[in-house]
Amino acid sequence: MPPNPISLGEFIIREQEKFPNASGDLSKILSSIKAAAKRVNYRILQASLHGNTPLENQKSNIHGENQTSLDVYADRIFIDSSRARREVCALGSEEQDDWIHFSDPEHNQSKYVLLIDPLDGSSNVDVNVSVGTIFSIYKRTSPLGGPAKVQDVLQSGRQQIAAGYILYGSSTMLVMSTGNGVNGFTLDPSMGSFYLSHPNLKYPKSGRIYSVNEGNYEHFPSGIKRLIKHYQTEDPKTNRPFTSRYIGSLVADFHRNLLKGGIYMYPQGTKAPQGKLRLQYECNPIAFLAEQAGGMATDGYSPILDLKPEGLHQRTPFFVGNTEMMEELHQFISNAEK
Ligand code: AHG
Ligand code: MN
Ligand code: MN
Repeated sequence: MPPNPISLGEFIIREQEKFPNASGDLSKILSSIKAAAKRVNYRILQASLHGNTPLENQKSNIHGENQTSLDVYADRIFIDSSRARREVCALGSEEQDDWIHFSDPEHNQSKYVLLIDPLDGSSNVDVNVSVGTIFSIYKRTSPLGGPAKVQDVLQSGRQQIAAGYILYGSSTMLVMSTGNGVNGFTLDPSMGSFYLSHPNLKYPKSGRIYSVNEGNYEHFPSGIKRLIKHYQTEDPKTNRPFTSRYIGSLVADFHRNLLKGGIYMYPQGTKAPQGKLRLQYECNPIAFLAEQAGGMATDGYSPILDLKPEGLHQRTPFFVGNTEMMEELHQFISNAEK
């Protein structure tokens, strides 16, 4: 980092100044996400002391997954910080069965919609491994002044105006895009502030890391099975075999592959016909960042950002990585279907 690094707060103000007519509401949302992230980070740092799984009153979310106490905590922090301000009219979260409409008259004037995966990879907290938060921001499509509508949270990913993630790793980072490239900020714990550490992030042209839960191999489509075997085959010319790396936190797996070059895959399988990951608050924001960083994200056929969402918790097969590896993936899928 340079000697006088730019803080995330300064960066947000500078970005806003490029748009003299901007209301500043998007900047306020980003600032509130930044503040909420610091609170969640602080709690995660203590997780090995206080534990993560509630011993009683164990609850499942709508996906049938056990909610950990940190899932519930992070969800509450991000929802409360949005409710306490007046920029967001509607919010969708992995941990809430239905979308939330902030229904008081003040929020009827709010222009923005927020979608979140409050804690991604949350089971990794128990073993002190990286987790994340994913966020996605849209402009509302329903008329200002009235209540938000379900269509506000069911916009296609192409309509996102900003997206990002917080990675609670060996350092805590906030990586985001407002549609003008991807920038990464690292939390300096001695200052309590995020500083620009990874400006204008771009995927390397080529990569040799693949990230997939290979335990599901038998259930994968044949094109994906062949691609994995191809990665494992010796070929000095293309530097194969490639390296397999899988953390089981989408944010952490994506972040590594963005920096080093690689592909993340969560394919459909016979046990999970639509894969596992959720379109609106996992795949779309990550796909937005991937495209902004010069990479690609698809369901194996179409860009993730062009899929038409039908439900808040809709799942989709998900493939994301540098363009060269994604093009090879599409070739393997289409060859297997000829
Ligand atoms: P979450 O903790 O938000 O439910 O997300 C977990 C997701 C994702 O982060 C990860 O890549 C994937 O689930 C791992 O799934 P498998 O254990 O099936 O590989
Ligand atoms: Mn997740
Ligand atoms: Mn989650």
